[in-house]
Amino acid sequence: MKGYFKRLEISRAVANLRKSGKIVGFVPTMGALHAGHISLIDFAFSHQCDTVVVSIFVNPTQFNNKEDLEHYPRTLEKDLAILKPYGEKVIVFTPEPEEVYGEEVKSKVYDFEGLDKVMEGAFRPGHFEGVGTVLSHLFEIVKPDKAFFGEKDFQQLQIIKKLVAIEQIPVEIIGAPINRNEDGLAQSSRNVRLTPEHTEAAPFIYKILKQVREDFNEKSIDQLKQWVEEAFAAHELLKLEYFEIADQNTLKPAKNGSKSGDFRAFIAVFAGDIRLIDTLSLT
Ligand code: PAF
Repeated sequence: MKGYFKRLEISRAVANLRKSGKIVGFVPTMGALHAGHISLIDFAFSHQCDTVVVSIFVNPTQFNNKEDLEHYPRTLEKDLAILKPYGEKVIVFTPEPEEVYGEEVKSKVYDFEGLDKVMEGAFRPGHFEGVGTVLSHLFEIVKPDKAFFGEKDFQQLQIIKKLVAIEQIPVEIIGAPINRNEDGLAQSSRNVRLTPEHTEAAPFIYKILKQVREDFNEKSIDQLKQWVEEAFAAHELLKLEYFEIADQNTLKPAKNGSKSGDFRAFIAVFAGDIRLIDTLSLT
């Protein structure tokens, strides 16, 4: 593993690799690496990348809650140890905020054509402008051939594709399937903060999504939503924030009677103080 800690060095290293014909992949992260990140890096190598840049940067502008930002797990030593076995094939970039943003750590204003107004965007105002801004800066610094994002954050993935189109950034955006624990829980950096009780309870989320997929052709959208709401209302440890069924391209909520399209279920749940999201394709 190579560590480049300055933006100029990383830009030069990637430019040299690309000049010599190597394909450079990029996996942006906020650290607290887990098996999901590793599978994303491996996914990048299985998509013809010769070298993968992994950035570790807890991006302040995408947190709409100060406490969430303060408590976000920061485990740099452990993260670097996890990446070490990749040797020189992985380049780690751990910038300071000013290296990414310059003097003013501030979000840009984007028109994501409504993709950012529903679900995560509705509950986390400003979140996607923060994500778009940091990625716009990181793409400008790294200039990779391809960038990889997990489908757990499916709304984020669609918004990143829109960002790249709006800013005409020459990078291929590739989504990777969700990594799940054996019990079905989607892997996330936040999982390490779950209490043992909540860890045991959390796989209920995926169980519910699978049941929705099973019932999708038989029940109406309203019936499915009501069933999910009731299932969580009866649960002692998990609190539903939202459940939505939406077209996976436009992210527009599905309406009763209109089941032709590529639909996907999206969910956000609180397990104590920890907010977990998940998603499942229904078609
Ligand atoms: O998905 C994440 O971890 C973050 O939103 C990202 C893409 C690294 C931007 O900070």
